[in-house]
Amino acid sequence: MIQEDTGTSEILTRAEAAAFIRVSEKTLGEMARTRRIPSQKVGREWRFLRSALENWLVGKGIRDDNRVLEAGAHDQPAVAEAVVQYQLPISDFRDTAFSENHDRTLHRWTPWIAGFSGSFVAGVLEGVRRERHRLRVLDPFAGVGTTLIEALKYECDATGFEINPYAALACKAKTQAAYYDTDILAATLDRFEEYGEENLSLAERTTSLPPKGFSSRVPFFSPEVERQVLVCQDFIAQETMDWVTDLFRMAFGAVMVSFSNYSYEPSLGTRAGAGKPNIDHADVFSIVKRKLREMHEDIVTFQGWMRKHKRIPRATVYPLSYLEHAQRVRPNSIDVLITSPPYLNNYHYVRNTRPHLFWLGMVNTSSDLKTIEHKSFGQFWQTVRSGPEVALRPHLPRLAEQLEDLRTRHMEKGAYGGRGWANYATTYFNDCQLFCALTRTRMRPGGKVVVVIGNNILQGIEFQTDKLFAEIAEQEGFEIVALHEVRKKRTGNSIVNSSVRNGTVAQRTRLYETAVELRVP
Ligand SMILES: C[S@@+](CC[C@H](N)C(=O)[O-])C[C@H]1O[C@@H](n2cnc3c(N)ncnc32)[C@H](O)[C@@H]1O
Repeated sequence: MIQEDTGTSEILTRAEAAAFIRVSEKTLGEMARTRRIPSQKVGREWRFLRSALENWLVGKGIRDDNRVLEAGAHDQPAVAEAVVQYQLPISDFRDTAFSENHDRTLHRWTPWIAGFSGSFVAGVLEGVRRERHRLRVLDPFAGVGTTLIEALKYECDATGFEINPYAALACKAKTQAAYYDTDILAATLDRFEEYGEENLSLAERTTSLPPKGFSSRVPFFSPEVERQVLVCQDFIAQETMDWVTDLFRMAFGAVMVSFSNYSYEPSLGTRAGAGKPNIDHADVFSIVKRKLREMHEDIVTFQGWMRKHKRIPRATVYPLSYLEHAQRVRPNSIDVLITSPPYLNNYHYVRNTRPHLFWLGMVNTSSDLKTIEHKSFGQFWQTVRSGPEVALRPHLPRLAEQLEDLRTRHMEKGAYGGRGWANYATTYFNDCQLFCALTRTRMRPGGKVVVVIGNNILQGIEFQTDKLFAEIAEQEGFEIVALHEVRKKRTGNSIVNSSVRNGTVAQRTRLYETAVELRVP
């Protein structure tokens, strides 16, 4: 039934929106689900923006990046923020929550912690495009490629660095999507299905073996699941086209934890430890296949978008440390940098992807992992806590005082107390300085830098990392344009929740996220 729309609210429920555009709720629900109309999902409900519907009605259409927010329990604050932001005229800086990516073409291929959303990046690029046409975009901490994908969609050439080999593989697999032969991929998927049917029931030994250097507290896969994993790996190993192998490896990595005895809470831990039952049986082939079918669908969609461009923009992904290899980017060449470095919360990207790195043959020993850890931005608390005292390089007297305060907290715990955390925080801010110094030389004059970064609490002391980062950037020759608080609340911070690391202030201090906007003079 079509109802009358009588309200004046900017945000509409499904019933109100249906009344507004004079269709039934059922039709509208279908249009929202198939993304034919601008809409957002908040929990289980659809919400519509009146002005977006008006634009759509007058033929402005919706873009591919229709923002659909699927709110899980953890994401409630982010969703609330997003709704608030739509009411405010700060169009360029949208919600940063990566959760939004779960529903979006290409972005949804694999989750990644502490990233930002595609629509956040799109908002920044839209703003810059008004000033300049073809842009060169850089993300030095590319994660799974959110910035790079959006850059391609906006017909910009993009360069990314990502030190984690699994995330770098995801970036590469996504950013090359314009070039894949979708018929070959579909045929390979059929062969994959047949291979599973023929080989899973056989008792024959697989050529693939579990990775030698990988150990876990409880068996990572049950024996039944492991056998399927190895058959799946045999199939991947016999493929001859690199891009097909990349897609299968990425897909396997994206789903492998779902059929393991581990889960993310948000760090990788045993399912038993999180109160969940172990996984004894799973249909590995079906799970991997489903992921690949989703990827196939997205590749078709993405190629459709790329055909609309005058030329296909280029993306380059370096699976390397930006801090060591920034010079691979030509000096004065970057128009826009959009990134989110690791936060000062010791989220351990390397440890949390150990299974991916070992099972995909990206590392073979724990010393391979250590190499990545040492080259990571800010390194990690575990890497630097016991080393000699680290000296602060940026000239920030207030920060130096705070670090001194931190160093003297819980001295009885030695490296596990303030001393270890001070080493970690100092290393982090030193890397902020190195990052700014390197980046300054890569940016063209007038270029824009947007760095999403949050505040942090170590041993009860709040570090306003965003403001400190901005000060460091200014010392390295950037102009501070603005600090936009893009999320007023953040959850899931390991430092806050850990009783070992927790101080008394922690529970009272609000965690937020800021987009630090800089300009090159
Ligand atoms: C906050 S995440 C970025 C997520 C990204 N914005 C996304 O949406 O996927 C930070 C990333 O920086 C990477 N990283 C850490 N140190 C690095 C370095 N020295 N060079 C390049 N990447 C690095 C980490 O592996 C991690 O993926």
